[in-house]
Amino acid sequence: MSDTVTELILGIETSCDETAAALVTRDGEIRSNVVASQAELHARYGGVVPEVASRRHLELVNPVLQEALRTADARFDDVDAVAVTTHPGLIGALLVGVAAAKAVAWARRLPLVPVDHLHGHVASLYLKPLDLEPPFVCLLASGGHTMLLDVRERGGYRVLGTTLDDAAGEAFDKGARLLGLGYPGGRAIDELARQGDPEAYRFPVARVPGLDFSFSGLKTALLYSVRDLAPDELAARRADLAASYQRAIVRALVARVDECGAERIAVVGGVAANSELRTALPDAALAPLSLCTDNAAMIASAARYVEPLPWPAYLELDARATA
Ligand code: KG4
Ligand code: ZN
Repeated sequence: MSDTVTELILGIETSCDETAAALVTRDGEIRSNVVASQAELHARYGGVVPEVASRRHLELVNPVLQEALRTADARFDDVDAVAVTTHPGLIGALLVGVAAAKAVAWARRLPLVPVDHLHGHVASLYLKPLDLEPPFVCLLASGGHTMLLDVRERGGYRVLGTTLDDAAGEAFDKGARLLGLGYPGGRAIDELARQGDPEAYRFPVARVPGLDFSFSGLKTALLYSVRDLAPDELAARRADLAASYQRAIVRALVARVDECGAERIAVVGGVAANSELRTALPDAALAPLSLCTDNAAMIASAARYVEPLPWPAYLELDARATA
């Protein structure tokens, strides 16, 4: 590949606790997609510690970039644009990716493409072989966001609804913590739920007006159920609690998707990896499992539809924590 002229976009993602780099072609083919998860590092604290995340990104960003080039059998010379998540996310974590992207792009006089992390999740659907074409309504459910998005073109989206409190992934993580399943909890609940009865407990699904979501009441309901159990009872009921809790989150998400009445539905973000949610939406376009949780291929994918900043104007570019 190093001898052929292929226009590759280098994507960099460091908005939370994954340090990621990927190479993607202009027509949406993934050449490499490297993700170094810091989950184990944060597990002992029960969640992401921002300062710890920033420091770890600093250690990992160069090796992850090199690994993305190596697995694609490419060199920096094959890269014609650098894309990086600039918002939203943990500010210190974002800054590491933005600084790395500026350094690589500036040294090679390449354009830099600032990418919205949420646009990145949607753009996971635009990679081959799925290559989904708008229009569709997209359920974005992750650790930081739960949104319904109206997607008319690949360059953007309009927010139809969002969570009023916790995100769906956050609900999974907090539930897992109450059940003693560690961090991050979504996958652990997903796995344990397979051995439990989803109808054992009836957890409430909050009804809020419009197309918004609310998950904080659900977490409190689980807390009360767990508090009422002795340790040996909790051990015996853990799988039932996990299954029932997951059922309530999936119900809430599917209800909103049904209510919005869209003809075509797509699902992206970490919670899109949930096996019950995937089964509950059989007609939806689902992000491939490897692209649900944070990665840089989706960032490079989104960059194909964003105006690049020319060299060297982007040296003043800043990250920001909010959308
Ligand atoms: O998209 P993502 O990697 O990060 C954000 O942008 O927030 O999503 C991470 C979230 C975590 O809350 C994690 O528990 C959840 O996705 N998650 C899952 C599953 N796999 C990851 N939730 C439910 N079921 C899963 N299988
Ligand atoms: Zn994300």
